[in-house]
Formats: sequence, C-alpha cells, structure tokens
Amino acid sequence: MTQTLTLRRPDDWHLHLRDGAMLQGVLPETARHFGRAIIMPNLVPPVVTGAQAAAYRERILTALPEGADFTPLMTLYLTEDTDPADVAAAHASGLITAVKLYPAGATTNSASGVTDFDRIRPVLEKMAQIGLPLCVHGEVTNPTVDIFDREAVFIDRVLDPLRRATPGLKVVMEHITTADGVDYVQSANGNLGATITTHHLIINRNHILVGGIKPHYYCLPVAKREAHRVALVRAATSGDARFFLGTDSAPHADPAKESACGCAGVFSASNTLSCLAEVFDVQNALDRLEGFTSLHGPAFYGLPPNDATLTLTKGAPVTYPAKIDTGAGPVTLFDPGFPLHWRVSS
Ligand code: DOR
Ligand code: ZN
Repeated sequence: MTQTLTLRRPDDWHLHLRDGAMLQGVLPETARHFGRAIIMPNLVPPVVTGAQAAAYRERILTALPEGADFTPLMTLYLTEDTDPADVAAAHASGLITAVKLYPAGATTNSASGVTDFDRIRPVLEKMAQIGLPLCVHGEVTNPTVDIFDREAVFIDRVLDPLRRATPGLKVVMEHITTADGVDYVQSANGNLGATITTHHLIINRNHILVGGIKPHYYCLPVAKREAHRVALVRAATSGDARFFLGTDSAPHADPAKESACGCAGVFSASNTLSCLAEVFDVQNALDRLEGFTSLHGPAFYGLPPNDATLTLTKGAPVTYPAKIDTGAGPVTLFDPGFPLHWRVSS
C-alpha cells in the first residue's frame, strides 16, 4: 500500500542563499519545496541596513524561477554600530522579519559581528519593544574554549545574561547542536525558540572524522557526540512547538570545502524533506513532522501557516544528484548516509 503524507507547505527558518551566480543556482532548490525562508544576512559585505536588505530582497525575487511560490523573509546583520531607528523602520515597513546576531569571528563572514554585547543593548531594547525576534548564532569565540563546548558556554556566559537583561526580547537559538541547548529552551518560560537543522538530526562528530575527514559534513556549530544528536531528535520529534526547522543550508562551491582550510556549511536544500521524513518515520513520529516543518515556526514568528500543501510518498529509495551545478561551481548535496524512502510527490 502506498503511504502518503500531506503537510502544509514547509518553511525554512534559517537559510543561506548567497548572491549572484550562487543565489541563482541554489534558490530553485529551496523554492521548489518551501513557502518562506528566513534569509541569512552574512554576505560579503553583510546586509546591515534596511536599504541593503531591500536591495538583496529584490535580487532574490529576480532570481526566482517563473511561477515559484516563495517569499524571502529578510534579516539584518547586527553590528555594534547598528542604528535602532533603522531597524525599527525596516520592521515597521514589513521589510525584515528578524535580526541576526553573530558573535564576531564565530563563523563564515562574521567578522563584523558583535564583540562587546553592551554596545547592542539599545537595539535589543528597541527590538523587545516592537516585538522583533533576534536570531542568535550561539557560540562563544574565545580561543581558550574548546570548539565542542562553545554552544554550552555561550548559553551560560552570553545568552542567559542577555535574555535576563531584556526579558521581553524574542530569541531564536539558531541551529542548536547540544542537549544543553535543548534543555535551555525547555527550561525557559516564553520568548525562546530554537531551530534545528536536518543534518544535525542525522550526523554526529564521528561522521566528520572517522575513516578520513569529510569536509562536506563540516559546519558550524560543529556536530557533537551521539548523545547530543539523540537529544536533538527527541526535541524535534516531540511535538514541542518551541523547536522548528531551520536547515542552515549553506552552499559553498566544492573547491572551498575540499581544501586544507575548508569552509563550514552543509548544503541540504534539495533533499531536506526526504531526510526529515525518514528521521521522523524511524521515530514513529510522522504525525509530528508537519508541526516541525510547517506550523511551529510560523506560530513563533506570529505568521499564519502556508495555505498550500506538499505531499510526500513512501516507496523505493529516491535518489538525488550528488551535487548541483551552479554558475559559481559545483555544490555537493548533503549525504544522509542511508536510503531515503520518502519523495516529494506534489
Ligand atoms: O556551517 C555554517 N555555515 N555555519 C554558519 O553559521 C554559517 C554558514 C555559512 O554561511 O556558510
Ligand atoms: Zn547559518
């Protein structure tokens, strides 16, 4: 018997589209399955002003395939010089949906991020006042902190104090990778959600390092030990509305990944829904997939779910190309390492 599953059209609450030829190459992969996505602002140079976000939005809309049903939800890149009035104006006009906080040096193109968190207090106060969410890359950058501990230390040293100082601020912990992240979200009373990526539900640090180094599994925050992956799967499949999908699909051309100093980022836009259906199926939680992909995110952001639907069908394993070709070079697609039985059928 054919098994099908119909969901409200999913959204991606954390996505990197880049610009130029790469944008042109990867955007159709997301627009095929997703209704909306929160667009990360870490371009070179970063999207820091409302005017830059408006121009970037236009470039995305221009790159969309004919007839696509996709809305980019724009963000601003928070710097120590961000003007609270510019942020408020961009929000009031409907241009931006969130502001992104990168600790300086934490990841790809984060050099303009924040070092002194006191300097962003006025912007955070303004955001709390107007109900504009802050998306946080939750890792400390202190070189003495082990890379596998950076998320847990960030929660204690930065995120918790920041949230206590601005209690009305809505915060999304982006791409959580640890049981500590899950626990922190579950212990909060309101105003805190978290995105979880597809790949962090599937790989642990062994996948990156055992049997040879696998650059296409390297991303930030880096995947942690198995117990953390299990905690993430539990959270994602629990039905708890504080957890929702943010793929963090982050394309880099293969030569930039397959290098002595490879870039961080996993590209998963094309096969994310097949991967997630497999993960939820194995957990006997297919009835909770729609919440994770299509309902919890809009509820957190105060938006209606999409009206359109998407149907997945279970059958013989579906194959995806190992890489997609873009004008900026080939980009390797995330390999879950197991067969995918669910295909997007309509
Ligand atoms: O792996 C990652 N890649 N993590 C990030 O935080 C940034 C992203 C990128 O832009 O490539
Ligand atoms: Zn990201």
